[in-house]
Amino acid sequence: MTRKARPMRRVIQWSTGNAGRKALRGILRHPDLELVGVHAHAPEKVGRDAAELCGLTAPTGVVASDDVDALLALGADCVCYTAQGETRIRETIDDLCRILASGANVVNTAIVSLVYPPFASPKLRERLEAACSEGGSTFFTSGFDPGWSGDVIPLSLASCCERVDSVRVSELMDYSTYEDPGFTGVYFGFGRPLDYAAPLLQPGVLKGGWGGMVLMLADAFGVGLDEIREEHERLPAPETFDTAMGRIEEGSCAGVRFEVQGIVDGRPTFVAAHVNRLRDDIGPGWDRLSAGKRSGYKIEVVGSPSFTCEIEPMGEDGDHNTAGITATSMRVVNAIPAVCDAAGGVVSILDLPLFTARHS
Ligand SMILES: NC(=O)c1ccc[n+]([C@@H]2O[C@H](COP(=O)([O-])OP(=O)(O)OC[C@H]3O[C@@H](n4cnc5c(N)ncnc54)[C@H](OP(=O)(O)O)[C@@H]3O)[C@@H](O)[C@H]2O)c1
Repeated sequence: MTRKARPMRRVIQWSTGNAGRKALRGILRHPDLELVGVHAHAPEKVGRDAAELCGLTAPTGVVASDDVDALLALGADCVCYTAQGETRIRETIDDLCRILASGANVVNTAIVSLVYPPFASPKLRERLEAACSEGGSTFFTSGFDPGWSGDVIPLSLASCCERVDSVRVSELMDYSTYEDPGFTGVYFGFGRPLDYAAPLLQPGVLKGGWGGMVLMLADAFGVGLDEIREEHERLPAPETFDTAMGRIEEGSCAGVRFEVQGIVDGRPTFVAAHVNRLRDDIGPGWDRLSAGKRSGYKIEVVGSPSFTCEIEPMGEDGDHNTAGITATSMRVVNAIPAVCDAAGGVVSILDLPLFTARHS
């Protein structure tokens, strides 16, 4: 296939965890991106070839480094930042500001409230904006959910509506194959007692994570929100069973359901919902995809006309959670050319042109 030439963008991948490994592969395989550096926090990753860190065989000649000054001196067009953000917010913002102030653009998955910067705290935004001004750089955060699930799909459906009454974006995913007990498992409280203080379920945390997506929808439709509410529910395992999240003992948490609701005139109008089971029979009354579909997203736009859209992601290994993590990474990797071309500052999906994959 002949391909129209586009400018090559020199990219540094920052971290090679769950999302970072997928991003690194995506960068190496992207026709318009050249990998020039890899940041590694873990000492055992420093000095290893990028290919080895993401499971590819042909060496790239780019080795991982923990020398931030040397990485920034490469003068890359963009840094793809996928380090863990939620457990180290201050350090993450320090990292991001340093990179942006150096003149590199940043695409980012960490600190998910940044998917819609107007929702983030003014102090945080001001720091990031100041770093962008200093470096003449652009900063964009996205992911799969929050991120992609609540932006172009509902907005695209609603572009055919005469009237929109409500929008509901639901992640209906079985997390039993999610190999991340150390973060996602603990964060959601899976396998813990039902009264365990799961970090995700502490007051304000759900709103902090998905409120940006809700506010973005309201702003896109030009509607003011009265408030953003959050609610959650947990269900126990009926018996002991094993998952990639670890052993789930009978009576411990095996299902989490939550909603973040943007309230307009007293009613939930823009809703981000999650139903995350570790087994199909948990929460029989909870929402699920239509028959035959195991896990995915349901996007409901109610109005004139109304639309229901179900999306079933599937990874190369046949697993929906692999698909989710690949999609999180590729959403930001594929945004790199658009972010490099942007005018500068802290942007959201509403500020960028439509972009898509460039591989085939
Ligand atoms: N919106 C979405 O849909 C979505 C989906 C998934 C993830 N995310 C977000 O993306 C981020 C990455 O997620 P993940 O699952 O890939 O995380 P992860 O695998 O738990 O961690 C990613 C990397 O963070 C780095 N790291 C950990 N502690 C560090 C420290 N003290 N200092 C510097 N680096 C440190 C490590 O980098 P090294 O590899 O260099 O050692 C690690 O590999 C998270 O903030 C998560 O919330 C968003």
